[in-house]
Amino acid sequence: MAGSEKSSLTKPRWLLAELTYACPLQCPYCSNPLDYARLGDELSTEEWKRVLSEARALGAVQLGLSGGEPLTRRDLAEIVTHARQLGYYTNLITSGYGLDEVRIAELKSAGLDHIQVSIQSPEKLLNDELAGTESFEHKLKVARWVKQHGYPMVLCVVIHRQNIHQMQQILEMADELGADYLELANTQYYGWALLNRDHLLPTREQFAEAEAIAQSYKEKVKGRMKIYYVVPDYYEDRPKACMNGWGTTFLTIAPDGMALPCHAARELPGLNCPSVRDFSIREIWYESAAFNRFRSYGWMKEPCRSCPEKEKDFGGCRCQAYLMTGDMADADPVCSKSPHHHRVLEAIASTQRSASDKPLFFRNARNSRALTG
Ligand code: FES
Repeated sequence: MAGSEKSSLTKPRWLLAELTYACPLQCPYCSNPLDYARLGDELSTEEWKRVLSEARALGAVQLGLSGGEPLTRRDLAEIVTHARQLGYYTNLITSGYGLDEVRIAELKSAGLDHIQVSIQSPEKLLNDELAGTESFEHKLKVARWVKQHGYPMVLCVVIHRQNIHQMQQILEMADELGADYLELANTQYYGWALLNRDHLLPTREQFAEAEAIAQSYKEKVKGRMKIYYVVPDYYEDRPKACMNGWGTTFLTIAPDGMALPCHAARELPGLNCPSVRDFSIREIWYESAAFNRFRSYGWMKEPCRSCPEKEKDFGGCRCQAYLMTGDMADADPVCSKSPHHHRVLEAIASTQRSASDKPLFFRNARNSRALTG
């Protein structure tokens, strides 16, 4: 790419470092790829440090440390120390499982800025069932420790059909724990969540009722707890501006070093995402075919090409387009202008009709191998 073309591109601001696919939990809505158990070796500490340095030099300022469960990496504090020295704002995205006060203090002295703890449900039985691991009481303890150690208390609850009826209890739990932020993240259907969609997609009525409860609670806790309600895009008629536009803001590095324009891009056929083991972050961001594939608007087909909203939503999500139509350059079917919008309506209709007779697949290595041959 010529120098003038490069200078017209934005730089990555957000680096998501998926440190590992290992996870003691087995959430059936996980967005990790189905075949994660077959993927190659994890990056070493030194490789991660190089990735962080190169991305920071290019302009990244926010660093998310996720997985899998990032706490399974014994070098986490060393990676955080390096990130802080480089000037990142560092976020740990964790289930809390495996976190204790010693480790929280260790991460604090390494310079970690922010811990986001996820809870599956405000009810022990459902939490432990969804996590596939007895973890509820420990998660509550972790949430309290996080606050006591001076971090902003950020709680995340992924919302779906199994827990959406508990919205009021979820809000009360967050309030009781003293959460500064509560993220109510409606499930997005990629990876394991897509596989289990019939069990997870709430009905339109459930969604509307839960949203009303969350909105009125927002008023009640104004100035005390901020509530972010991530709307499920299946119930929208315009798509989300996924990744704020492909290759504009977000850079994800998978545990095996694959560089992805979004966390689900590994599933897109023929995209040939580059590896940090073969290329520098600068080369990946500017030169790779994968990061250039859906930049700007030239790749668009109708109806996106002539749509007056294309600069707002960028045609929606490439991964969702591929997963629902088989063509990653199609309009996101969530959009009511998409000729494939009926597929979203069919998914909603099937969830309204009856409970699924398909099994619920928990995300674990055994299922990963069995499902991906
Ligand atoms: Fe890949 Fe939306 S998740 S583009």
